[in-house]
Amino acid sequence: MLVHIVAEDQNRISELRALFGSQDRITSALLNDESSVPKECDAMIVAVDLRNADNIAALKEVSAAFKNTPRKIFVIDQKVRLFAAQAYALGATHVLFHPVYQPSLLAALNGAGKSNVVSEDDDQGGARRAASEGAVSLASMFSAVSSGQQVDAAAAKHAAGRISDMIAEDGFSHWLETVRRHHEGTYQHCLLVTGTAAAFGLNLGLAKADLERVYSAAMFHDVGKAKIPLAILDKPGRLDDRERAVIETHPAAGYDALKGTRGISSEILDAVRHHHEYLDGSGYPDALCAAGISDIVRILTISDIFSALIEDRRYKAPTSRAEAYEILCGMRGKLEGPLVVAFKEVALNR
Ligand SMILES: [Fe+2]
Ligand SMILES: [Fe+2]
Repeated sequence: MLVHIVAEDQNRISELRALFGSQDRITSALLNDESSVPKECDAMIVAVDLRNADNIAALKEVSAAFKNTPRKIFVIDQKVRLFAAQAYALGATHVLFHPVYQPSLLAALNGAGKSNVVSEDDDQGGARRAASEGAVSLASMFSAVSSGQQVDAAAAKHAAGRISDMIAEDGFSHWLETVRRHHEGTYQHCLLVTGTAAAFGLNLGLAKADLERVYSAAMFHDVGKAKIPLAILDKPGRLDDRERAVIETHPAAGYDALKGTRGISSEILDAVRHHHEYLDGSGYPDALCAAGISDIVRILTISDIFSALIEDRRYKAPTSRAEAYEILCGMRGKLEGPLVVAFKEVALNR
């Protein structure tokens, strides 16, 4: 495999080179050094600070030169992870966070675009584009919430609608594979929940307006995580009691951030605040019981739990779809039984 690395300094280039074996051919260049850019390569890795406007301008030119490269992996710093939207806008097919571990890098290199650049009307390209647009929308939504600005609700709903259309056309399994291969962390989770909720809504035969409510609620549901420190949000393994208490503030934080935003209905606000409530009253933040939990929330909660289980995270092997469905079936009293039964087809076959 021929891989070209673009970075701002030699140290970063050396670090990335060290992740490859002798079977790969690696070229590298400092940003702004066009003299050593290869004509063609299988993958490009960009490790550049996206907060700097000059870097963005330079990268636009680099991206144009590499427009036929199947895999464009952007490595961005944890501290500026909200710049993932910028990376996708510059043509990234994958975004990884520094420090990069070899398995994540190899998965990104080998997982996608195995042969050629995907053409406009290719199914795989359609799912990838819908996933990338969804990730851009999520990244700008998280960025807005963390900096106290209003989210662009219309853009997020539009992106969620594309996801739903994609699933109606190509099926849910294809969506799961595409998202798990290309996206990480919270964005992967939100894209999976949106797709799962859309697939569930489609299977239930919901009317168009209700389907829109369900997938939009899913798109926004975890936006309050923008307020949670990354050290807790991305902590591998179990959380302690204090960390869990911090995580459990995210539904109310999301509700507060979206309240009063144009395009956010009371149903979406309700879903954002209550997607961790259970019918038996054991959920949070308001310990609602069955009568207080709407149909949209019941659908969203099932979609959320299933998606969290089947996520592909660096530190845990994903649970299979069948096992995840078994776990849902075991949550008697918490989730609506008939809905769990109706979800079987989505979980196992769709
Ligand atoms: Fe959540
Ligand atoms: Fe969630």
